[in-house]
Amino acid sequence: MSAMKIDGKAYAAGLRDRIGDAVANLPGQPTLAVVIVGDDPASHVYVKNKIKFTIATGMRSVEHKLPADTSEDDLIAIVRDLNADSEVDGILVQLPLPKHLNENRVIEEITPDKDVDGLTEASAGRLSLGKNGLRPCTPTGSVMLAKDALGDLTGKNCVILGRSILVGKPAAMLFLEQNCTVTIAHSRTQNLEEVCRSADILVAAVGRPQMVKADWLKPGACVIDVGINRVPHPDKPGKTYLVGDVDYKPSLETAGSITPVPGGVGPMTIACLLRNTVLAACMRRGWDMPDNLSF
Ligand code: GUN
Repeated sequence: MSAMKIDGKAYAAGLRDRIGDAVANLPGQPTLAVVIVGDDPASHVYVKNKIKFTIATGMRSVEHKLPADTSEDDLIAIVRDLNADSEVDGILVQLPLPKHLNENRVIEEITPDKDVDGLTEASAGRLSLGKNGLRPCTPTGSVMLAKDALGDLTGKNCVILGRSILVGKPAAMLFLEQNCTVTIAHSRTQNLEEVCRSADILVAAVGRPQMVKADWLKPGACVIDVGINRVPHPDKPGKTYLVGDVDYKPSLETAGSITPVPGGVGPMTIACLLRNTVLAACMRRGWDMPDNLSF
């Protein structure tokens, strides 16, 4: 058997097209504000892409590039200004922040109605209570790809490997919303391999390169690999490459469908951020929700 590759890059491109169509039909232009502190090169690449796709989908982008020694008070003052700015629909503070800044304190300053990352306590509470709100982007992208591969997820056994606040926990809530039977497995789980083998859908989000082996998978399972790990290249000394949390090549023989790394869940994160910006604009400004962004 050879697994179907779930093409997250293509799905994300299609979602961006739908977002562009939705934006063109709105009564106004949504605005995403991005705040970046310091000069972490990877963060700057992420932010550049976020801005590029914000503009490509017809939205307005506002960028605040702050020096690495920005004080917490100054950063919070900027977030508060963005909260108060009626033109701004979404606020994203790029993580990680420099060590002297308290990430939790800064994120909590974002008004929940503009929390397009879905990271505030209010957004997490709304998700766990099943209330309307902005959902975290990577877990939402994971659900979209699983639905793309399998259709209706009702009744499927979904095992989430990893219990992080950014991915594992919200992913569990989102798959539960899809009527899955959800198990969260982690480093202390007993019989981990057996638990994984019970999964119709396995979401790997532990940040351990190629940890999940082909014989951990139920034959035909849908595998959503959230891991992005940079490791030394086996054949090219001094070079690195990206691998997921799943041992991809051998898993192609066991899985029914699987996301590659790169090109799987990764591209979905920005697409879902743009989608959240549209949803935030519609909710806050009382515009009709576009009907082409549901999944
Ligand atoms: N850093 C890496 N990924 C993300 C993300 O999705 N949101 C934010 N705010 N920072 C990140």
